Amino acid sequence: MITIHDKTFQLYISQSEIQTAIHKLATQLEVDLKDQNPLFVAILNGAFVFAADLMRALPFDAPINFIKTQSYVGTTSSGTVQTVLGLNENIEGRTVVILEDIIDTGHTLKKLLQILTDKGAASVKVVALLQKPDALQHNDLEVDYIGIEIPNKFVVGYGLDYDGLGRGFADIYQLKEN
Ligand code: XMP
Ligand code: MG
Repeated sequence: MITIHDKTFQLYISQSEIQTAIHKLATQLEVDLKDQNPLFVAILNGAFVFAADLMRALPFDAPINFIKTQSYVGTTSSGTVQTVLGLNENIEGRTVVILEDIIDTGHTLKKLLQILTDKGAASVKVVALLQKPDALQHNDLEVDYIGIEIPNKFVVGYGLDYDGLGRGFADIYQLKEN
């Protein structure tokens, strides 16, 4: 068990389970996308650990870049997502592969898919280490590659944070209720 700020979390997905899921994803990506010279784009901050492990598990070489998103709830409309660190690269005609730590409502992804498509990507694929299927609010959203499906409970570790902390844990922990 770990404590971050005021909350306790219990071990939920071990590092070896995470690595097994990542190697499966890497193999699928090789089969499906290797010949398309894909450009990987990881979403900061949360996906930095996943991206580092996935790139090292990939059986082929490929470029990676990073973008940062921020949702502004309250100041503009809820669910509005803006890129605060952009992609300075021409992606016209490219196969772009988004690397995301976790997909929850799907708002972030929905907006990003639109941004990348508007920039002229030939196709945009999505790889998420985790997905909470019960939290998804966009039925039309297609997540092409999912590592592990989890219930709609808050998790930390392996890049995921609770109020800024917890990203460095090698395992994934789930919020302990009471
Ligand atoms: P949406 O709802 O846009 O959310 O799909 C995606 C982003 O929300 C964050 N998120 C979490 N972060 N533990 C976290 O540390 C969680 O259980 C969790 N669920 C969603 C995350 O930043 C992700 O990129
Ligand atoms: Mg995040």
